[in-house]
Amino acid sequence: MIKGILFDLDGVIVDTAVYHYSAWRRMANELGFDIDEEFNETLKGISRMDSIDRILEKGGVTLGKEEILKLATKKNDWYVEMVEQMTTDEILPGIESIIQQIKDLGLKMSLGSASKNAPKILVKIGLMDKFDAIVDGNSVTKSKPHPEVFIKGAEALGLKNEECLVIEDAFAGIEAAHAAGMKAIGIGSKENLPNADMNLSSFDGENLSDLLKKLQS
Ligand code: BG6
Ligand code: MG
Repeated sequence: MIKGILFDLDGVIVDTAVYHYSAWRRMANELGFDIDEEFNETLKGISRMDSIDRILEKGGVTLGKEEILKLATKKNDWYVEMVEQMTTDEILPGIESIIQQIKDLGLKMSLGSASKNAPKILVKIGLMDKFDAIVDGNSVTKSKPHPEVFIKGAEALGLKNEECLVIEDAFAGIEAAHAAGMKAIGIGSKENLPNADMNLSSFDGENLSDLLKKLQS
């Protein structure tokens, strides 16, 4: 039985995935190459430092550790500039309703995000108080698809792994959920997220009890 919901943040609660993409693209362009949306799919859910390694490899660019750290800081500064402009209007459709349904059903919820900027974003959009626990890029050492972030989420809620359901927009995130023994709803197409236990384009108009029943049947 599902007793807790573990939410990814970027691309699930708010569409910061597009801000990450725009900042990474700007960095790649400055280095003299480009990245496209298809490649960006492979970056979703991946930590900042693992992402930069993948992007540099894609562009065939080799740099020293210090240079890489400088670039990561620069990308993050661009990203944070965009995040600072965010308002509650950017909460994705159906998220506030699904959170209300979680509360009404007496379920618990935790964040399970790879982002070190997660607390800043949750405060900005006014959803920080809704979470019973926050597990983010500041509290994990291993990037998705490693299950650490979700295992810690279940622990923080005092639940067994199989009692938690993950909500994810990243292929790597769904792999992480499965590696933790959890089912996952994929926010995105079957084409991008063929590994999800159920695909939704958003939570708009969705009934959580019905979704849970479908997942458990
Ligand atoms: C994940 C995003 O949620 O967080 C990735 O999907 C991002 O694109 C990662 O790289 C780390 O985020 P941050 O904010 O710590 O750089
Ligand atoms: Mg995401």
